[in-house]
Amino acid sequence: MPVVEVQNLSHIFADGTAAIENINLQIESKEFVVIAGPNGSGKTVFIRHLNGLLSPTKGKVFIDGEPITKDIVNARRKVGMIFQDSDSQIVGQTVEEDVSFGPENLNLPPEEVSRLAKESLQAVGLAEYATRNPHDLSGGQKKKLAIAGILAMKPKIIIFDEPFAGLDYPGVVQVLQQIILLHESGHTIILVTHELEKVLAHANRLVIIYQGKLAENGRPGDVIGDCEKYGIRMPLRANEGVETLTWLK
Ligand SMILES: Nc1ncnc2c1ncn2[C@@H]1O[C@H](COP(=O)(O)OP(=O)(O)OP(=O)(O)O)[C@@H](O)[C@H]1O
Ligand SMILES: [Mg+2]
Repeated sequence: MPVVEVQNLSHIFADGTAAIENINLQIESKEFVVIAGPNGSGKTVFIRHLNGLLSPTKGKVFIDGEPITKDIVNARRKVGMIFQDSDSQIVGQTVEEDVSFGPENLNLPPEEVSRLAKESLQAVGLAEYATRNPHDLSGGQKKKLAIAGILAMKPKIIIFDEPFAGLDYPGVVQVLQQIILLHESGHTIILVTHELEKVLAHANRLVIIYQGKLAENGRPGDVIGDCEKYGIRMPLRANEGVETLTWLK
C-alpha cells in the first residue's frame, strides 16, 4: 500500500485561481521524491494538501490508506513539513522550547518531551544551542532547527519546500546531509526544489508540476531530459549531484 495516495486533487482559490488541477500520485514507503516546476506552478499548494494545511476543492489524500480528513491530528503526526521560510516555523523562546512544542502538543509526559527534544537537537547538530534564542540563529541553523522540530514528532514522511533557498554553500551541504541521513534512516522524503543538481543523485523519482498539472512522473534519468520544456534548468552536468555526494563522504 502506498504511504501517500493523491486522487484527482484540485484546488481553486476563492479568487478563481485554479492552483492545482486533477493531480494523481502515489508514493511508496521510503521513496525520495523530488518535485520540480516553475514559479507559480502549484508545488507549494500541492504539498500543503498532504498534511491537511489546505483542503482540496475536489479530490482526496490518503496517508497509509486512511483519508487524512478522518484523523487530521494523526496525519500531521505522520507527515512533517519543513517550510521554505524557517522564521515562520519558529514558535519557542529558546531552541529547546521550540523543538519541544510538537511533542508537547501530542500531550506526551514532560520527561518524554525533554528526551525527544534533546535527541532531535543532537541529530541535527544543534545540541549546544539549546538555550539560545531561535531568532538569533543563522539561516542554515534555523533550517536545522525546523528539521529538529519535525524529527521530535517522529514522522514517517518528511516534506521539504525549497530547503536550500537562501543558504550559502556550506549551509546547503549541511542541510542536504541531514536530508540524506533522514532518508537512510527510513523516512519517506518529498522535496520541492528548483535546484535539481543538488538532490537528483539521491532521488528515486522526479515529478514535474506545470501549470497546476502533474506533467511528468518517473525515474529522474527518464524525466530529466524533458525539464527544459517546462522551464526548469537542467543540471549543469549529469554527474554533478554524484560529485556532491562524493564530496559529502
Ligand atoms: N491564497 C491564495 N489565493 C489565491 N491564489 C493563490 C494563493 N496561494 C497560491 N495561489 C496561487 O496558486 C498558484 C500556485 O502557487 P504555489 O505557491 O503553489 O506555486 P509554487 O509552484 O510553489 O511556486 P514557487 O516556485 O514560486 O514557490 C499561483 O498562481 C499562486 O499565485
Ligand atoms: Mg512554492
